Order: sequence, then structure tokens, then C-alpha cells
Amino acid sequence: MTEHAFTDAERRAVYRVIHERRDMRRFKPDASVPDAVLARLLAAAHAAPSVGLMQPWRFLRITDTGLRQKIHALVDEERRHTAAALGARAEEFLALKVEGILDCAELLVVALGDGRESHVFGRRTMPHMDLASVSCAIQNLWLAARAEGLGMGWVSIFDPHRLGELLGIPAGGEPVAVLCLGPVPDFPDRPALELDEWTLGRPLAEFVSENRWS
Ligand SMILES: Cc1cc2nc3c(=O)[nH]c(=O)nc-3n(C[C@H](O)[C@H](O)[C@H](O)COP(=O)(O)O)c2cc1C
Repeated sequence: MTEHAFTDAERRAVYRVIHERRDMRRFKPDASVPDAVLARLLAAAHAAPSVGLMQPWRFLRITDTGLRQKIHALVDEERRHTAAALGARAEEFLALKVEGILDCAELLVVALGDGRESHVFGRRTMPHMDLASVSCAIQNLWLAARAEGLGMGWVSIFDPHRLGELLGIPAGGEPVAVLCLGPVPDFPDRPALELDEWTLGRPLAEFVSENRWS
């Protein structure tokens, strides 16, 4: 521990929010997120690290009900394509709840901005570090939402070109996440994909090695 460490209670809160964050697909009906809370969440996202400080993220708040329905239709279409691509597990996949777009209080689309090619610092050999940066922003938002008592679900089942067209995202920009946000009935203590018996997470020890890949 160094003199810069947070207090015991603060550290417990940080680890608690990390471990109690869940991907949520079920939301309380007719609920809302106060503007001040939404502003805090977006500020948390915007505080994320980014390669070369390029801040490649864009946050689109979807308030139009018709647009929300169109986004849901795009996701549902891709859900069916995904099921077909899964072959033997198609029916099992279709039985999973993989989004809460029509039920959540707030819907956000997070996109990569245009003009990213001008940012070379940290991206010459790995241009996808822009996506890594956006992911940091989304994770900040996710953790902050959990701390505020709100659930968030990250939906990536969509055709980015068609969603980009729907939202007027310019050439060079690209949507990477549809985020369902809002009050939820409860936070399960395990991932939904485990509870639904789709798959099981594996323990940390399987992912850590010393000196060489093993
Ligand atoms: C990049 C990314 C994309 C995801 N896309 C979806 C999605 O489209 N639909 C869904 O139900 N969950 C999606 N998830 C949530 C994961 O299924 C979830 O994080 C994982 O099962 C672990 O559960 P937990 O987040 O509750 O710990 C996504 C998560 C990430 C990080």
C-alpha cells in the first residue's frame, strides 16, 4: 500500500462495483434516469483513458421512440442471423434474452468518431487501439451506472453499417455498442449466460502465465 491509496472503505467500494457489475437485459418498466445521473455517467465515460488522448468516442442519446423501435428491429434481425450461424445451438440462442432495448429507461449508442486516421500515436501498428479506448469509456459508464444502482446491457448484435445509416453517422465513424440503461429489478450474482446455462466463465488462473504463453 502506498500513501496514495484510497481508504479501506473506498477501496472496498471500488472492488465491489467491479465484482457486482452485471450485463443486464431486464429493466423496470416505465422507469427513468434523472438528467443529473445521466450527466454523471457520461462524464465518467468521458474520463476514460484513450490512446494518444484521441477521445475517439461519441455518445448518441436515443430519445425518439420510433428510432428506438428501428434499432430494436435491426438487432432482432441480426439476432436471427446469429442464430442461423450458430447451427446446432440456434434454438438455444434464440431462447436467450440478449437485449432490453424496448424496456430500458435510456438507450445510448456509442460510436467511434470519424477522422480517426489522423491519430497515429499508439495506433501505427495497432489501429484498433481506438476501439480499445471506446471500450474503456463504456466500462467506466457501466461501473458508474452500477454504483448509481442502475443496470446496463451492452448490445453488439447489429450490422454497424445499417445502424450507422439510421443514425446519420458519417463515413469513417462506426457504432460499436447499443447500451440499455436504467433501473432493474435486481442484480444477479452471476452472468446471465451462466444462469441460462449457455456457457461458464473460467477462473483467473487459466489466463495468467509467467514469461511465456502457457
Ligand atoms: C463487447 C461486448 C459485447 C457484448 N454484447 C452483448 C450482446 O449483444 N448481447 C448480450 O446479451 N450481452 C452482450 N454482452 C454481455 C456479455 O454477454 C457479458 O458481459 C458476459 O456474459 C459476462 O456477464 P457479466 O457482464 O454479467 O459479468 C457483451 C459484452 C461485451 C464486453
